[in-house]
Amino acid sequence: MAKKIILDCDPGHDDAIALLLAYGNPEIDLLAVTTVAGNQTLEKVTHNALAVAEMAKIQGIPFAAGASRPLVRDIEVAPDIHGDSGLDGPKLPEPTLMLESCHAVELIIKLIMSHPPKTITLVPTGALTNIALAARLEPRIVERVKEVVLMGGGYHVGNWSAVAEFNIKIDPEAAHIVFNEKWPLTMVGLDLTHQALATPDIVANITEVGTDCSQFVIELLAFFGRMYKQAQGFDAPPVHDPCAVAYVIDPTVMTTQRVPVDIELTGTLTLGMTVADFRHPAPDDCHTQVAVKLDHAKFWQLVVDALKNIR
Ligand code: BDR
Ligand code: CA
Repeated sequence: MAKKIILDCDPGHDDAIALLLAYGNPEIDLLAVTTVAGNQTLEKVTHNALAVAEMAKIQGIPFAAGASRPLVRDIEVAPDIHGDSGLDGPKLPEPTLMLESCHAVELIIKLIMSHPPKTITLVPTGALTNIALAARLEPRIVERVKEVVLMGGGYHVGNWSAVAEFNIKIDPEAAHIVFNEKWPLTMVGLDLTHQALATPDIVANITEVGTDCSQFVIELLAFFGRMYKQAQGFDAPPVHDPCAVAYVIDPTVMTTQRVPVDIELTGTLTLGMTVADFRHPAPDDCHTQVAVKLDHAKFWQLVVDALKNIR
């Protein structure tokens, strides 16, 4: 049985690759793609999501636009990593897929409430604004969702401050809501995604696929790599978001550890930190776990195989 997911994203180079992995992997039933402001404005990331759909010839999957700003704070975007468009690098095709007329939050709720309980996994790869709004608007989704597997945070690493990661830092109040609801939640944070480096051998493997889509990914990675070198000194870019999708496809692609995690909302230097309490064995009612160690070869093979399936 394919695993049903909703991908809530802000494309974004790595979000785009997460979308291609979800679409191209036969174990995933991609029920919907929803967008949220983050790497760029809502308008831009939504356009980018539809452009990626065009590139991969995706049809019959609903796409809906969501929150255009964080719950409380001003919008903060990331042109230093993703460029002015949010997906700089390759020439983007003009989208033909039409957006759903409803808000992303309505679509998320409608899908969860109309499917059997515990059959849908939420995969957020941007700020958690839409997911938090959905949990507040229809609290019954919390016990109906199978699990939340998100890219965000980091128990020992930050990238938007010394201790906070971008997706959490830009909307910490939303993250606080999502981490404190009692659904099973896997945090695929920077500790894990900094292992998902697109090294030259990986780029060569993707090039060998030889399709328009693989060429598109190569161009995405080339831009992303340059920006990560400039902004954060990486020799090869960490490709964060597909790691969350990969965990849904095959949990053996990474090791995890159960640990309570909460979000710092009042710290002056630590706002948006994902505070993981490793002091004791996790209590029985602990509903959160963090990703620890990536099987690099297995992860990238999933990406390459998915790209081969997209023609
Ligand atoms: C996260 O922030 C965004 O820039 C990426 O798309 C990823 O989701 C990494 O911190
Ligand atoms: Ca993202």
